[in-house]
Amino acid sequence: MERRKKQLVKRIGIFDSGAGGLTVLKELKASISGVKYYYLGDTARLPYGTKSSETIIRYTKQNAAFLIGKKIDVLIVACNTASAYAIPELRKFAADIPVTGVIHPGAKRAAKMTENGKIGIIGTRATISSGKYQKELKELDPDFRVFTNPAPLLVPLVEEGMVTGEVTEKLISMYLEPLLRKRIDTLILGCTHYPLLKQTIHEMYPGIMLVDSAEPIRDILLAGYEFPSGNGKTEIYVTDYPEGFGLLSHRFLEGNFDKIEHIDLQKLWKASNGTKIKKTK
Ligand code: DGL
Repeated sequence: MERRKKQLVKRIGIFDSGAGGLTVLKELKASISGVKYYYLGDTARLPYGTKSSETIIRYTKQNAAFLIGKKIDVLIVACNTASAYAIPELRKFAADIPVTGVIHPGAKRAAKMTENGKIGIIGTRATISSGKYQKELKELDPDFRVFTNPAPLLVPLVEEGMVTGEVTEKLISMYLEPLLRKRIDTLILGCTHYPLLKQTIHEMYPGIMLVDSAEPIRDILLAGYEFPSGNGKTEIYVTDYPEGFGLLSHRFLEGNFDKIEHIDLQKLWKASNGTKIKKTK
């Protein structure tokens, strides 16, 4: 049988409500180095996890429009909340490029990992109440027992860079103990910020298998596309002031990016009349 040639991907767009998606970017950069990455952190409007689905969809479309303006070949929605609510809308809006969210890949990974079929999920309130992870897991195996707990306070902790220490550990145990009492063996870190706490969670609960979005997304890309070799550039855009974000970017990407710039997304969106944003360098 003739093998279908894989699409060559030269530019990847990734967005998150803030810094959490840098974990996905880092993983991708480590394995797929030749593409040009455009990362957008919608820091001015973070958190998404407390917003209505209408608002999340609106913000998400604007983020996508900006990245599409950069002529990306693939769009990664590295935000669980946006993935929970906006993927069908985005696939209509960005119909000419593949759109990958984080929920399906994360659920698949957890389904593969669990041994006792008891899976815990933490995420923003919006992600947990969307029921998307729960639905995906039940579709993969109706016998799975799924336990959830929203863990909203972990987001500002990570944005503050507080990924270790007494306060962080207290909050983690407050959110995880109810799930551990159900004897889960696998925990989905269902928010792009939580992987930054992975080490701390692992040290606190070494017996629990942790699932984050970065590796499953990388595997989907590697399986589905071809990439140029070499060293591509990475541009970071933020909707609020870039200083604090720059520090986080330096920490997580070890300075491995080419620029960080503020954009006025609302203004660009208005100027584009609600279509793909073209007026970007
Ligand atoms: N990035 C969001 C997510 O993965 C968490 C932060 C927020 O609430 O915006 O769900």
